[in-house]
Amino acid sequence: MSGYRIERHPILTPQPAGMIPFTWKGRPLTARKGETISSALFAHGERIFSYHPKDHAPQGIFCANGQCAQCLVLADGLPVKSCMETVRPGMAVQPADGLPELPKVKGNPATRPIDEIPVPVLIIGGGPAGLSAAIEFGKRGIKALLIDDKHRLGGKLVLQTHRFFGSYDAVYAGTRGIDIATKLETELRTYPSVEIWLQTTALAVFSDHKVGVLRGDGRYVQIRPDVVLVTSGAREKSLAFPGNTLPGVYGAGAFQTLVNRDLVRSAGRLFIIGGGNVGLIAGYHALQAEIPVVGLVEALPECSGYKVHRDKLARFGVPLYTSHTILSANGTDQVESVTIAALDKQWKPVPGTEKSFACDTILIAIGLDPVDEFFVKARDFGLQAYAAGDAEEIAEASAAIFSGKIRGLEIARDLGHDVGVIAKEWYTTADILKSRPGLTVAEEYPADETGVFPVLHCVQEIPCDPCTTVCPRDLIHIHADDIRGLPAFEVPDPAKGCTGCEKCVTICPGLAISLVDYRKDPEFPSVTIPYEFLKDSIETGDRVMVLDTTGAELGEVEVTGVRAIKANDRTVLVKLRVPKAAAKRVAGLRVQDGDVTKPMARYVSRTADDTIVCRCERVPAGEIRRLIRAGHRDISQIKAVTRACMGSCGAKTCTALIHRLFREEGVAEKDIVDQTKRPLFMEVALGTLAGVEAEEEGDHGRL
Ligand code: FES
Ligand code: FES
Repeated sequence: MSGYRIERHPILTPQPAGMIPFTWKGRPLTARKGETISSALFAHGERIFSYHPKDHAPQGIFCANGQCAQCLVLADGLPVKSCMETVRPGMAVQPADGLPELPKVKGNPATRPIDEIPVPVLIIGGGPAGLSAAIEFGKRGIKALLIDDKHRLGGKLVLQTHRFFGSYDAVYAGTRGIDIATKLETELRTYPSVEIWLQTTALAVFSDHKVGVLRGDGRYVQIRPDVVLVTSGAREKSLAFPGNTLPGVYGAGAFQTLVNRDLVRSAGRLFIIGGGNVGLIAGYHALQAEIPVVGLVEALPECSGYKVHRDKLARFGVPLYTSHTILSANGTDQVESVTIAALDKQWKPVPGTEKSFACDTILIAIGLDPVDEFFVKARDFGLQAYAAGDAEEIAEASAAIFSGKIRGLEIARDLGHDVGVIAKEWYTTADILKSRPGLTVAEEYPADETGVFPVLHCVQEIPCDPCTTVCPRDLIHIHADDIRGLPAFEVPDPAKGCTGCEKCVTICPGLAISLVDYRKDPEFPSVTIPYEFLKDSIETGDRVMVLDTTGAELGEVEVTGVRAIKANDRTVLVKLRVPKAAAKRVAGLRVQDGDVTKPMARYVSRTADDTIVCRCERVPAGEIRRLIRAGHRDISQIKAVTRACMGSCGAKTCTALIHRLFREEGVAEKDIVDQTKRPLFMEVALGTLAGVEAEEEGDHGRL
């Protein structure tokens, strides 16, 4: 095992896996069985996968999700996306520098007829929404085919080590995302009416209502569904700034894939762009994997993600630079530092506020776009089509679980099955789970300084209720008939007060409940806080810096107990001896050494004009701006002149950035003419579509 593999993790248990040999540029390396090529390369410290034929720019991964085509390599001579293709024993992997040589063809290849498979329901995507919907079909014996392009089910659930928010009753709130994935998959696999095809990519929806899919064994087949349900999730948004395509700049979801799914320590020092939930959670996951987080920038005056996520990072010692922006990613062949600056009221960087930080990885976490093209196309062609989860509307995974369930029931009903009445409240719950954070109030502490009680450091209205479900004396409530209300701890009968059981401290997904116990020593009460890091990283007798919700230091205190029991599901409870004056304010302790967050002595100014908008074709922002200023409004024209949108990702990555350039140049959205979309949404070799048989095992003909 190399030093880039995660051998210990507070939540995930590295499973022993057989190692298989492969070569990279002729050098013998090993991969875990079932591992993708990109993760295997990262596990050996390799993150430059190729050099672009146009300008010889180094390329690495961006999405690790099959969407951007940045990670192309040659595997046994064939171009493949390294983030999707798993390593085969003896595979020879090479950089895809320039266009690959076409394989030698011996005469006209033999073709086979394309199989047509009728199914009542086709589900595209086995993430939270697809799994939930499929379970509803399975329960009713409805024949369905679920396809997913990854080698395991679960979608973004398998990337999430934290306990989920949302409703305890409706969507397993309080349970970790990875465990929800296992629960859903285990249940689904008990229903024989649902067939599952993994490593199977949907390519296109055709006007004759067939859906072309490429199976994991390399066979192209056409599915003829009566109904299609699109639960294909979301793709990460790209961002244009100088140095934005340097290897080491990639999406937060890609980072979670490498670290949490594949247990690869893909970064040495991390910087995050974007203070929404995805960026905040990625920072937390980095700290859990013992990867230092240098900082996070957010252009808005406040992080837009849940305050409890934001507070966690602040408490653990990550500086949050709000009203700041990234100026550049710096480095020659890969990221070596990042430069940021403060923004003024007109969103312009303020001269003199520039700071640079040494880091080798910059995560883009500025939001997600729905992967909805299959849904749109199917609907346009009159195929009965539904969408759920992020493919319908970007929201938390808990919302996707619930919307998938509802969509599954609706489809079952529309197919003539008796599903009873789908309660109106279910739709209300679905809307609640999708909702953005609401009102934030100032934190108030209980006046009491006797006995034992929890302090709820939860001051923002978000959909979340696990704390109300675990109190054995039922003392925590959300008053409004809506789980977005703020929880309150109330003791109607003093004889039946808090017992100090710590269950609420353990279950809170936001790590936002502490327990203060004055019973033994009223001057130095004991404060219990949750801790989701390696349990041997803290010991009784340690001195630790404790902080309030916002990250303000309250002083060093002694650890008086560390409790890691099975029932607490990997949440360690840490007891601290805290002076009375600070006890109720303690919300967490610092886990990261402050030195890692210090800026460099001088800021790095990147002079290269390499703000790339179209990554696939390496088209810089300046070229597109010139055309916009010359009056071009039709993206197809821009495409014809610059080749932007013409690359292998099918314009999935650059279209939104081009729209943004238009906006920056003052062009209204209504005046922009979008480019013609390609009929195929994913790349595929033409021979595959024609039914050319793979010549030899392993020739998957992916591109
Ligand atoms: S990184 Fe592999 S397709 Fe995006
Ligand atoms: S980024 Fe892929 S076509 Fe432009």
